Amino acid sequence: MPRTPDWSPDDIDPNVPSSARMYDYVLGGFNNFEVDRKLADWVSETMPEVAQGARDNRAFLRRVITHLVTERGVGQFLDLGSGIPTAGNVHEIAQRLVPGTRVAYVDIDPVAVRVSRQLLAENPDATAVRGDLTDIEPILADPEVRALLDFTRPIAVLLVSVLHFVPDSARPRSVIERLRNALAPGSFLAISHFTHEGREDYAKRIVAMSRQTPTTTNPRTRARIEDLFGDFTLVAPGLVDVTEWHPEEDVTPTGRSGWYGGVGILG
Ligand SMILES: C[S@@+](CC[C@H](N)C(=O)[O-])C[C@H]1O[C@@H](n2cnc3c(N)ncnc32)[C@H](O)[C@@H]1O
Repeated sequence: MPRTPDWSPDDIDPNVPSSARMYDYVLGGFNNFEVDRKLADWVSETMPEVAQGARDNRAFLRRVITHLVTERGVGQFLDLGSGIPTAGNVHEIAQRLVPGTRVAYVDIDPVAVRVSRQLLAENPDATAVRGDLTDIEPILADPEVRALLDFTRPIAVLLVSVLHFVPDSARPRSVIERLRNALAPGSFLAISHFTHEGREDYAKRIVAMSRQTPTTTNPRTRARIEDLFGDFTLVAPGLVDVTEWHPEEDVTPTGRSGWYGGVGILG
C-alpha cells in the first residue's frame, strides 16, 4: 500500500483514482498518487484531446475571472468544485488584479481542501472548505464562507468543469435555483461543462474511464447546459465552446475543446 504524503488526509484510499488528483497531474501539479498518474497517462495516450481540453478549460477560467474583476467590478467569488490548486488559481488571478478580492473555495475532495488550506494559511481574503455542492445549504451556511463573503452584495459563483460530475438524479438545476435564492442581484454564475455533442465516441470513452473513479462523468448537450443557468441571463457571447469565450487577441479559438462555457448575470 503506498505511503500517504503530508498533503494527503488519512481518510482516503490511495488505491482509488480521483478526478481531482488526475486533473492536478494533467495540469502539471504534484498532489497525486501513482494510481491517478497511471490512469491519467492511459487517458492522455488513448485520448490526447483530454489534456488540451483541461488546459482550454483552465484558460477559460482565467479569462472569466479577469473579465468579472476588471469589466464587472466583482469583488467576491464562491468557487464550487475548485479542485487542487495548481498554477493560476482564482485568488491569485483576482487578487493580483484587485488586492483584497475575496475567494471561498469549496470541494468534495479532501486532498483538494487540505492543499488549498495549506496554500491559503497566510491569506486573510481566501479560504477553502469541504462540501458537496449538491447539498448546497450547509455550504451557504458555513461559518467560514459567511465570514468571508457578504451575501448582501454581488458574488460570482464558479461552477467550472464540475457539473458534469453531478448526475441528473442529484438535480443540478434545483441546486442552482437554491443557490440563486441566496445571492444578491448583480451576482454572476460561470459554468463550464463537458459535452458529447459532435464527439460521441470520445465522450463514451471518457464516461467509461470515469467509472473507475468515484465521480462518473455526465456529458450534457448545449441546450441542457444552457437550461442550468435558469434565471441567470447569459452575457455575450452566450454559451459557447470555452475557447470562444472572450478569446485573447493573439489566440485563435479551436472551437473543439469539448467543453461549453458561459457566464450569466442575475437581474
Ligand atoms: C475537473 S476539477 C475542476 C477544478 C476547477 N474548477 C477547474 O476548473 O480548474 C473538478 C473538481 O470538482 C470536484 N467535485 C466533483 N463533484 C463535486 C461535488 N459534488 N461537490 C463539490 N466538488 C465536487 C472534484 O473533487 C474536483 O476537484
